[in-house]
Amino acid sequence: MFGQNVAASVSKSPASRTRWKLSVVCETIRPQSRAMEVLLSRDEIADAVGRIGQQISQDFTGESVVLIGVLKGACLFLADLARQIELDATFDFIAVRSYGTKKQTAGEVQLIKDVITPLRDMNVVLVEDILDTGLTLTFLRKHLLAHQPRAFKIAALLDKPSRRMVPVQADYVGFQIPDKFVVGYGLDYAERYRNLPDICVLQDVAE
Ligand code: IMP
Ligand code: MG
Repeated sequence: MFGQNVAASVSKSPASRTRWKLSVVCETIRPQSRAMEVLLSRDEIADAVGRIGQQISQDFTGESVVLIGVLKGACLFLADLARQIELDATFDFIAVRSYGTKKQTAGEVQLIKDVITPLRDMNVVLVEDILDTGLTLTFLRKHLLAHQPRAFKIAALLDKPSRRMVPVQADYVGFQIPDKFVVGYGLDYAERYRNLPDICVLQDVAE
């Protein structure tokens, strides 16, 4: 009986349940709890992901695509984006390690997990959480172009153009954002906060 009541109240108010969860996550995993400012809400994110999905579906009408997610930050974006693409699609994942601080890439990018899908003559869409200095995507673009795909596009949910150190652009961008460190929806600070449903600005953290 108790279980039934809980299930009924949860299904009636999913939005309030996730708001509650967000505050619990913030209070339990941050040493000193501070309010995190929501920069992009889950609804705004969903709209942008839908728009990018439509663009990719139009650009590759009648063809198939391989979506390559950059682990780990892009996994939520890829999962949602894939469901907005009305094409024959397959997934693969790639992972890099970049040296630097918890908040930024310093320069050297190293491949730690390669794709297993043959990419020659395939339509490849590289799916990344955020384009910051551009070092990671410059490295990955060169690495993946060596496989000689038929087409190669980059989808980045976020873009911080003011931070660019090397010239690289995404073909599909969800949002251009200011120079703030953000977490949530896959993005982390020292591996935390990836599971926040909104994208939030993390303030007062060590470089
Ligand atoms: P880039 O090589 O400097 O373009 O950095 C790209 C990577 O840095 C992203 O894949 C993220 O993992 C990380 N990154 C850059 N800015 C942020 C941020 O604001 N929050 C979380 N991770 C970030
Ligand atoms: Mg990343």
